[in-house]
Amino acid sequence: MVVDILTLAPGYFASPLQEGMIGRGIRQGAIRVRIFQLREFSTDRHRTVDDRPFGGGAGMILKPEPIARALNFLRQVPPGPPQVVLLTPRGRPLDQALVKKLSGKRRLILICGRYEGVDERIAAHYCHDQISIGDYVLSGGEPAALVVLDAVVRLQPQVLGCPESKDEESYEDGLLEYPHYTRPRIFEGHPVPEVLLTGDHERVRHWRRRQALSRTWEIRPGLIREEGLTPDDLQLIREIKKR
Ligand SMILES: C[S@@+](CC[C@H](N)C(=O)[O-])C[C@H]1O[C@@H](n2cnc3c(N)ncnc32)[C@H](O)[C@@H]1O
Repeated sequence: MVVDILTLAPGYFASPLQEGMIGRGIRQGAIRVRIFQLREFSTDRHRTVDDRPFGGGAGMILKPEPIARALNFLRQVPPGPPQVVLLTPRGRPLDQALVKKLSGKRRLILICGRYEGVDERIAAHYCHDQISIGDYVLSGGEPAALVVLDAVVRLQPQVLGCPESKDEESYEDGLLEYPHYTRPRIFEGHPVPEVLLTGDHERVRHWRRRQALSRTWEIRPGLIREEGLTPDDLQLIREIKKR
């Protein structure tokens, strides 16, 4: 997979591309990341990329021409065709289902906005997707690009050290994950739940499912879809509701 990132701050990516899962994915050749400085696609001698908003108001807007020029250039560069994604707080929320969809693409182009954002004509006519990483406003799209990249890299075959672990994680089955414990058995007076020490895999599985359900019900009830629930799950939810 190839991910191209269009940014005004290429230096932002220097260390993250070497570390952790992204670094491993790049070293293994599972993913290739190319960073492009948006200013390189400006044509005036000051390398201008922004301008004042029509209609007035605070802040500057990223002009459409340099971004269009960059995208037209990148579309000629293999492999094609790329999926063009604008990172914006006005986009659709990134979730694990969307991450899975993106991770199956051969090539992504991630556009990082700055200032007050990007001229709407780029969003409307050059982008396949507009994605938000959450209901808050960042000062630039770079952290959002890294979030997308990290989530997508770990779904590339062979990148995750233990492939089974991703099947049990939060959101994989529509629920938040159950809690984890490791040694010591008692930490500052707090013991590990007894069931995890029994070696009884069926009891452990059952306990984890109940934990995942009750945690999801308490923190993110909107994630729970009745279709995916067993009669046992439904019984547990009835118990939680009564608490
Ligand atoms: C200060 S923000 C612009 C905010 C814009 N004026 C608005 O209110 O929607 C600058 C850039 O940061 C990025 N950004 C900010 N918050 C984001 C979020 N939640 N998800 C994805 N990108 C975000 C976008 O690329 C955006 O163009």
